[in-house]
Amino acid sequence: MVAARPVDPVADPMEAAEEVGLRPRRLDEFVGQTEVKEHLSIVLEAARRRSQPVDHVLFAGPPGLGKTTLAGIVASEMGAGMRVTSGPALVRAGDLAAILNDLRPGDVLFIDEIHRMGRPVEEVLYPAMEDFQLDIVIGKGPTARSIRLDLPHFTLVGATTRTGLLTGPLRDRFGFVARLDYYAATELEAILARAATILGVSLQPAGAREIARRSRGTPRIANRLLKRVRDFTEVRGDGRVTGKTAMAGLSLFGVDDLGLDKLDRAILATVCERFGGGPVGLSTLAVSVAEAAETVEDVYEPFLLQLGLLLRTPRGRVATPAAWQHLGLPAPPHPAHLFP
Ligand SMILES: Nc1ncnc2c1ncn2[C@@H]1O[C@H](COP(=O)(O)OP(=O)(O)O)[C@@H](O)[C@H]1O
Ligand SMILES: [Mg+2]
Repeated sequence: MVAARPVDPVADPMEAAEEVGLRPRRLDEFVGQTEVKEHLSIVLEAARRRSQPVDHVLFAGPPGLGKTTLAGIVASEMGAGMRVTSGPALVRAGDLAAILNDLRPGDVLFIDEIHRMGRPVEEVLYPAMEDFQLDIVIGKGPTARSIRLDLPHFTLVGATTRTGLLTGPLRDRFGFVARLDYYAATELEAILARAATILGVSLQPAGAREIARRSRGTPRIANRLLKRVRDFTEVRGDGRVTGKTAMAGLSLFGVDDLGLDKLDRAILATVCERFGGGPVGLSTLAVSVAEAAETVEDVYEPFLLQLGLLLRTPRGRVATPAAWQHLGLPAPPHPAHLFP
């Protein structure tokens, strides 16, 4: 079923394994997101001084910006153990009850894509978050009875690509909600320099600049492009990533000047060429580019919106004149009704 696929995917298991090695373990190794970092360091320090577990934390933002990394940082900065699960894996109340029952005091429970958790699971989570209690029903029918178990004090860290999808009661139970933003090019250059050291890649400043510029403000994409460019220079060059080889490698792999890949361009081309610039509904658009609607909405659209290439309107998605221009297409004949 398409809807059950994770929307924050690292499809390639090799890449997923490599990503673990690139994850900063400490808050001061985490580049950028200055405000989030400052707030989080205060929250962590205060909890440490009180010798208490940290309040429940929610990280929100598009894929690849560091939500999972920050969850790990919370655990390691607190010297706590971490249990990892995800919304789509939590379908029945029992799925979560089993995990909660297994926690030790101070543990961090990380629920990725928490907005995709089943409703019955949410009911179990509320008293667990608020009162560290677990209500379980034993037996069935008239003899069924409910018992209440005490849970150790733990920290729930949730991650979501969209806070809008969280129910109010769930959102309200987090003591600290942090929104992650796209990274500035200079921050991505710093992330790339760090990754290059870990991966043993010779990365020149001009090469880092070129990759950073085309990484859609996203560390995961920056690291991924670095690896592709490294492959390219090892085969076609002398292994050093310069501005020139970065540029050549990136165009070879279909990453254009704005950092858009084939699917980004397919989305824009669909709206412009097949639907006259829109408006076109999300599901129609997703089917046209053979992707899940959720993936288009969570992974691809936010950056196209941010670049001002696409607009979300009540009637659907609309391409802006900049989109036509980027595709090298003549401007639409009647843009006026789309931009009243
Ligand atoms: N601020 C950062 N500094 C350094 N590396 C980062 C940063 N944010 C993310 N990364 C890198 O990007 C990759 C993706 O981050 P991740 O935490 O998995 O993102 P998310 O969970 O939001 O999708 C990780 O491998 C990590 O190395
Ligand atoms: Mg993640």
